Amino acid sequence: MSDQPLLRFPDGFVWGTATSAYQIEGAWDEDGRKPSIWDTFCRQPGRIRDGSSGDVAADHYHRWAEDVALMASLGLKAYRFSVAWPRVIPDGSGAVNPAGLDFYDRLVDALLERGIEPFVTLYHWDLPQTLQERGGWLNRDTARVFADYAHVVAARLGDRVRTWITHNEPWVTAFVGYFLGEHAPGMQDPLATFRATHHLLLSHGYAVEALRAAAHLPLRVGITLNLSPVHPASDAEADRQAADRFDGLLNRLFLDPLLKGSYPQDLQPLIGSLLPVEPGDLERIAASLDFVGVNYYTRTVIRHDPALPVLELGQVQPAGSEYSQMWEIYPAGMYELLMRVWRDYRPADIFITENGIPVPDGLDFDGRVRDGRRITYLRDHLIQAHRAIQDGAPVRGYFHWSLLDNFEWAYGYTMRFGLIYVDYATQKRTVKDSGHWYAAVVRENGVR
Ligand code: FCB
Repeated sequence: MSDQPLLRFPDGFVWGTATSAYQIEGAWDEDGRKPSIWDTFCRQPGRIRDGSSGDVAADHYHRWAEDVALMASLGLKAYRFSVAWPRVIPDGSGAVNPAGLDFYDRLVDALLERGIEPFVTLYHWDLPQTLQERGGWLNRDTARVFADYAHVVAARLGDRVRTWITHNEPWVTAFVGYFLGEHAPGMQDPLATFRATHHLLLSHGYAVEALRAAAHLPLRVGITLNLSPVHPASDAEADRQAADRFDGLLNRLFLDPLLKGSYPQDLQPLIGSLLPVEPGDLERIAASLDFVGVNYYTRTVIRHDPALPVLELGQVQPAGSEYSQMWEIYPAGMYELLMRVWRDYRPADIFITENGIPVPDGLDFDGRVRDGRRITYLRDHLIQAHRAIQDGAPVRGYFHWSLLDNFEWAYGYTMRFGLIYVDYATQKRTVKDSGHWYAAVVRENGVR
């Protein structure tokens, strides 16, 4: 630790790490699990940078007890994980697979025994393939069956799990999966993108009702969004307008219906007719939210690109900035974003549900992983989160992405985000320097 003064976080601040099912579990066809759209997508040539898949991943399905013990050894207070829908209801709707539920039941018990609070995400992108064959998120019915699935999981875990997240990053599902085609199901269709967007939000609304109806405890229910401050590449009017439109499509398209009950007015001419809104949908989507989960990695800088007049995905990488293997490193954006969410939407609570950096880590001769870059990133972002809390943002917890190195979607195993290094050949885990550093943050409830 440095000898800087300690920036203390509020008492009871929740310190955790995050993962998702497909990225860590492996065991893709065990104990009744059926394929998800990611199993299918990974098998299509050229989709994944290193040709890999989550078939084995970090083998967490078999090593969960060791992983929980590692969390406990770091003193972590909470763990955000996702439930694999195709493990629990292998065809998406209909028959429940008891072995799938048992896995998460054991995991929850093990966490609670160690004093680690589970935060459960219901959908982190692994849609059952059977549902995709019925149209996936383009089919309104998927929103209904998602709620049935939510009900099944909450009926089993809702006596012990208090905090629930319906979706992880619905923007990514809709835009990266249906517009850019870089994620499952790999479509490139703007019309489909907005159809999926609305059905994802609708499914959230249905799921909130189902969760509250099924659980045995008063639950805390939220949704996790990938949000980003959007800055124009220059002061030119065209760039400013493009940035504003992109902010609409990335941030307000989700925040507005969830927290204000309407889609952004300024986007109406562009997308109004593409959103399949039926009477009652917006009321359902805006059903009370106990918290907003914010995933923050980087800011977005936009320049007007006449070649992309409609969706304005004209993102630029500003010169002179520092970059990781994936994104610009921009800690001030954490403060800006948290304050913006608080100022414009006044959610009851905010959790930072993801934040992290890929670092090309490796074991040094003495078996240590010296990932100083991750420590710097983490410190700089925590300082900005602390500043936002000082200025009134109701940020209640921070989850580092990720607990362990894992399958990074289209990047396969080429990106390592963990506080714990995974040797994929042996599945041996090694706590990185950043893991030890974060343990001290948790212990001191503050950052230096
Ligand atoms: C987020 C995802 C998460 C992980 C990180 C790096 O968009 O929610 O699964 O891939 O990015």
